[in-house]
Amino acid sequence: MNNKIIIDGGNRLQGTIKASGAKNAVLPILAATIVGQGESHISHVPHLHDVTTMNELLAQMGAHITIGDHADIMVNPDNIIDPVAPYETVKTMRASILALGPLVARHGYAKVSLPGGCQIGARPIDLHIKGLQTMGAQITVEDGYILARAKRLKGSRIIMDKVTVTGTENLLIAACLAEGETLIENAAIEPEVVDLAKYLSAMGAEIRGAGTSKIYIQGKETLIGTQHTVMPDRIEIGTFLVAAAITQGDITITEACSDDLDAVLSKLTDAGAAITIDGSTIRLQMNQKPIPVDIYTAPHPAFPTDMQAQFCALNAIADGTSVITENLFENRFMHVDELNRMGAHINVEGNRAIIKGVDHLSGAPVTATDLRASASLVIAGLAARGHTDVHDIHYIDRGYEAIEEKLNQLGAKIIRS
Ligand code: EPZ
Repeated sequence: MNNKIIIDGGNRLQGTIKASGAKNAVLPILAATIVGQGESHISHVPHLHDVTTMNELLAQMGAHITIGDHADIMVNPDNIIDPVAPYETVKTMRASILALGPLVARHGYAKVSLPGGCQIGARPIDLHIKGLQTMGAQITVEDGYILARAKRLKGSRIIMDKVTVTGTENLLIAACLAEGETLIENAAIEPEVVDLAKYLSAMGAEIRGAGTSKIYIQGKETLIGTQHTVMPDRIEIGTFLVAAAITQGDITITEACSDDLDAVLSKLTDAGAAITIDGSTIRLQMNQKPIPVDIYTAPHPAFPTDMQAQFCALNAIADGTSVITENLFENRFMHVDELNRMGAHINVEGNRAIIKGVDHLSGAPVTATDLRASASLVIAGLAARGHTDVHDIHYIDRGYEAIEEKLNQLGAKIIRS
């Protein structure tokens, strides 16, 4: 499998690309098709490995999946006869846990493998389980599987101990078919939660407050499958903007969503970039070495953890010292060792990375460890002198649609080998 890309660094990125659909919106939305009777038609779906995995999971259960033109996906869940998410699938994609809520809500039964940890952290799902138990689901864990049963979930008041994106999404979907009203307090307010709520409402769900920390859901007997166009991917957009900034480039991204990226755009401006927004188009121009910017990750609308690794690369060649604090995941600095092999001076102390900017990075063979770490290494390779070989590049295909094609369209020199 061609699992390496070779980047010839030092080329300014210039030109225009179009944003793809959001991975972290399409995954809960595909899971949510389970609660709708009849076919749903999901448009603007990014061609990602994780989307393929989610489609395979639904098909494995018995749903009928059709891939339409432009990678649209039609899902008819009415023939689901096996509400099981097996270990083999869940271990490759944690977002499979998003099938739990919809399956219990519609079928009264679900058997979903515990996802286990992943490279960036333990990734517990205790709050997903606790919320479903509050709604009356009987849940046991046997042989590494969550077994959940409920004649019909009951609308309840659920106070989330921590802000969890997929935890909020799992419970939001389940509550749409529960009996009575559910209130989810301390809910995640990420834009992807809002996009999911938009799709559920279009299926007939009654939801108020999506995008705030209090979401009210009036449960229904049935929901009807419908069409939905997935929102743009704000993390893909942010990643390309950082790539343009580190190469002192000038790029324009169309079909973007600037209002979901305020914290990232603000940090790029602090780093010295000039950003112009015109409706759904974002332009970034950079004509200087980056100014170091301190980053503190936190739930939306604060700076997103999914953009932390990318800013480690940008700060690596900044004119001074910066500190990046990762507050969500306990092991999300695995890109640092690889960046240091390219000549960066980054020192990790607990959940903080102290970055002393250097004049330049040098190309080197490096290895990706997780999705956003691989993006960080590609960004560093674009700016480095010489060639950078990024091994285990399959991680990047989980979350970025045709990344080397888009970067080469902007003037990068990348080949996959
Ligand atoms: C979602 O993961 C995203 N994935 C992640 O994107 C993203 O980094 C994360 O939200 C934070 O924004 C999808 O949407 C598919 P969390 P999720 O539950 O929902 C703790 C990427 O790169 N927690 O919001 O799994 C947890 O340990 C991926 O695209 C519990 O304690 O993250 C963490 O500290 C990586 N118990 C915090 O909450 C629970 O039951 C936030 O995690 C659930 C979570």
